Amino acid sequence: MSFGDIKDRVIEATDLVMLIGEIVQLRKSGRNFQGLCPFHNEKSPSFLVSYDKNIYKCFGCGKSGNAISFMMEYHGLSFKESLKELGRRAGFSTSEFEESKETKEVLSQRDSIFRALELATDYFEKALKSNLGQIGKEYLNQRDFSKETIHEFRLGLSFDGWDNLMNELKRQDIPETILLSAGLILKNDNGKIYDRFRNRLMFPIQNFMGKVIGFGARMLKDEPNQPKYLNSPQTEVYDKSNTLYGIFQAKNEIRNKKAAILVEGYADVISLHQAGFKHAVASSGTSLTKQQLDLLNKFCNTIYIVYDADKAGISATERAIELAVENNFEILIVNLPPGEDPDSVIRKNGSAVFTAYLNQAISFVEFKVNLAKSNNGLHTPKQKSEFIIELLKIINRIPNKLEHSDFIQQLSELIGISASQLKSVYLEKSKIAKLVESQDSAKHFHQIQHQEPSLSESKIITDNTYFDNILHEEEIILQMILTNEKAGKVIFETYKINEDKLFSEEAKDLFALLKELYFSGSKNLIHTIIADEDIDNMIKDYLSEISLNSDEISENWGRFTQTMKPIDFKRIIQDSYINIEIYKLNLESERIKNQLKSLPSSEHLVFLQKIKDLNEKKSNLLIKLKRIEF
Ligand code: UTP
Ligand code: MN
Repeated sequence: MSFGDIKDRVIEATDLVMLIGEIVQLRKSGRNFQGLCPFHNEKSPSFLVSYDKNIYKCFGCGKSGNAISFMMEYHGLSFKESLKELGRRAGFSTSEFEESKETKEVLSQRDSIFRALELATDYFEKALKSNLGQIGKEYLNQRDFSKETIHEFRLGLSFDGWDNLMNELKRQDIPETILLSAGLILKNDNGKIYDRFRNRLMFPIQNFMGKVIGFGARMLKDEPNQPKYLNSPQTEVYDKSNTLYGIFQAKNEIRNKKAAILVEGYADVISLHQAGFKHAVASSGTSLTKQQLDLLNKFCNTIYIVYDADKAGISATERAIELAVENNFEILIVNLPPGEDPDSVIRKNGSAVFTAYLNQAISFVEFKVNLAKSNNGLHTPKQKSEFIIELLKIINRIPNKLEHSDFIQQLSELIGISASQLKSVYLEKSKIAKLVESQDSAKHFHQIQHQEPSLSESKIITDNTYFDNILHEEEIILQMILTNEKAGKVIFETYKINEDKLFSEEAKDLFALLKELYFSGSKNLIHTIIADEDIDNMIKDYLSEISLNSDEISENWGRFTQTMKPIDFKRIIQDSYINIEIYKLNLESERIKNQLKSLPSSEHLVFLQKIKDLNEKKSNLLIKLKRIEF
């Protein structure tokens, strides 16, 4: 296979956000990720990575490209070296990259550990399928795990005995030191080494790319003084705090559904996947971490938490709520009956019942209120006020201030205290926070005060649908202004076009904003916008999104794709305006036709004349559009 052929596959297999995330601290911003540009010095972030498009672009210095250009530009590798390195990371077999005369590279320690884990997985899978694997097969049978599921999650079996795996892997030239570093074997005080996993059902833990990084191992039948699950220790390649079990199998569905189901255990993930809930992942018995949220953040902004209904599960849910809410996730809590977990519900009641539970998921506010009520914690005025303050504190930490009112409203309805009363406590709390906390939170408070009164009276952007009214042609015009300095000059200075020529109010507002920035001397509009703290985040996201959409990514981008034809931006602008005019004319004639229906025929004539005039205007515009000269 030639380098050219695999280029696209490598780019596609690379998670650009992760790749760049190793170098730059990236923060999610709408559908993109944002951070300080690694190619030039800057104080405010104008470097964007688009997850959907697999490209990056800096609106400060203009550097842009894909995974390969990043390896070349940042790491200074050649094209071939970049391809190889990315291919290696994505788990492509090296033979696809190796040219025959090139010598085999010595595998790094990390690679050797990965290789040992892969061979171990393979060995455990084969052991389960072998004649001696009957005990494992019976166990899985009794749990209703299908053949396909076992294959998909690469479940296996470790035999009873001290050195089965060790001997097998040594036979395959894996040194003892690597087996130790991979967490597959242990050394006791007498220096004796032995297999860590014995007589257990093996659940390989795969990373995002599908590489095995460790194992969870379940006992096959109850044994006293033995942990139910034995897990890999922390190793060079496995850190449980930044791993989610099932992420490899779940990532596509999480992206499709824009939501993840978060459960406690390995078996829960597997049962859910088998029942069709392919967006389930597990935090594997540890409490949810920020790194795990970062992993999910790339695919979704909603999390259904389905932890066990026991004491540990409830307090894990409480911790997860705070962390998730702070990190801008919508969090929904699913209550299962006491003593049940997702696996047991599915096995006993089927997937329809589990869907019903999902549909009854409640907000964190309702969850907290229910919990307080069941603990008899909402009786006295003091209990009530303490509870309110606790909740307001959580609400106050939600980065999207526009959601605060909603949650305050919910809280008010659930505990029967007026929303305005709660709001005054909320503002009071914010004021106190302002005094106590740093300058940063003072700014926050300023924003709250600013936004609060305007929520009802003026149009405030509450969700993505705000931008849906913008016509495609309007988007093109905004995009041209943002990405092409000359376009701004032509529109604002040569033709002196203003926002009235557009159709939607939303596009008019944005156009006016760009015009204002243009005349205030800003050279690089999108850079100015991203850095401007007064501009709403939704607007930033929208405008940077359409800037990233621009086909004309940059010249150096062209090195990796077919070269782009230079675009005739004047013509694109003109055509867009003409199309908007035509759109307006069509609406107008629709309106007149509707009026016509309710009028007596004596009055039809004048309206028909109007329609005729409109049609004439329209055909004139269409002629212009086609550049038909008469
Ligand atoms: P649970 O005890 O709820 O087990 O632990 P489970 O997932 O329902 O397991 P089954 O259905 O009996 O097989 C939840 C998770 O906590 C971790 C594992 O990740 C487990 O899936 N755990 C539990 C351990 O790491 N060690 C243990 O001894 C027990
Ligand atoms: Mn279980």
